[in-house]
Amino acid sequence: MKTQLIYSIDSSLKWKKRLKAGLSLVYQVQKETSLYVLKIVPFYLGPDNWRVNHLRRETTLLEMAKEVEGITHLVKDYGKNPKSKCAAILKEYFEGKSPEKEITDTTLQQKLQKTVRQLHSLGIADFDICSTNIIISPDKKTAKMVDFGSYLRFSSHNSHFKAYERQDNKNLDDLFKPIVW
Ligand SMILES: Nc1ncnc2c1ncn2[C@@H]1O[C@H](COP(=O)(O)OP(=O)(O)OP(=O)(O)O)[C@@H](O)[C@H]1O
Ligand SMILES: [Mg+2]
Repeated sequence: MKTQLIYSIDSSLKWKKRLKAGLSLVYQVQKETSLYVLKIVPFYLGPDNWRVNHLRRETTLLEMAKEVEGITHLVKDYGKNPKSKCAAILKEYFEGKSPEKEITDTTLQQKLQKTVRQLHSLGIADFDICSTNIIISPDKKTAKMVDFGSYLRFSSHNSHFKAYERQDNKNLDDLFKPIVW
């Protein structure tokens, strides 16, 4: 079933493993010798349901954020495919794990702060900064933000933007706070 679906989206992709299943399907796939992430939203609820629109919004952000460091970039946008009855995108795969407890490495914190600043400079804020949307490499030296299904876009004059920027910075800093028992 999933291999058929993936084949109908892009016959050059080989299914490797499931990263998440729900209303959207997130799979690790292989193309030639490289690994990627294929994010699929089937048209269960029709081609214009909110999940499909969510994925379209993520695609818009990734197209804007091609130069931003510390995120997994868009590799290919398959758009909405009436034949395979789904919308799908291919993203870079980043090997690692979401942090299970607070992160203590200040270099990682600074790198992620830079990513957040770069996104803010594009007028993007209120993206879902939480541990499940961050992956840390096995050597713990690099981290990337992987999910931009949810965010707001602001014009430079919007008076609410600063408040959202502050909240993003706080959400990131909270991931680095030691837990007080
Ligand atoms: N590019 C990636 N590299 C490595 N792992 C990833 C990548 N993208 C996603 N994952 C893994 O798959 C999980 C689910 O992906 P993602 O967060 O994009 O889906 P989602 O939460 O369903 O998205 P949405 O919030 O748009 O509904 C992530 O928590 C992460 O563990
Ligand atoms: Mg997520």
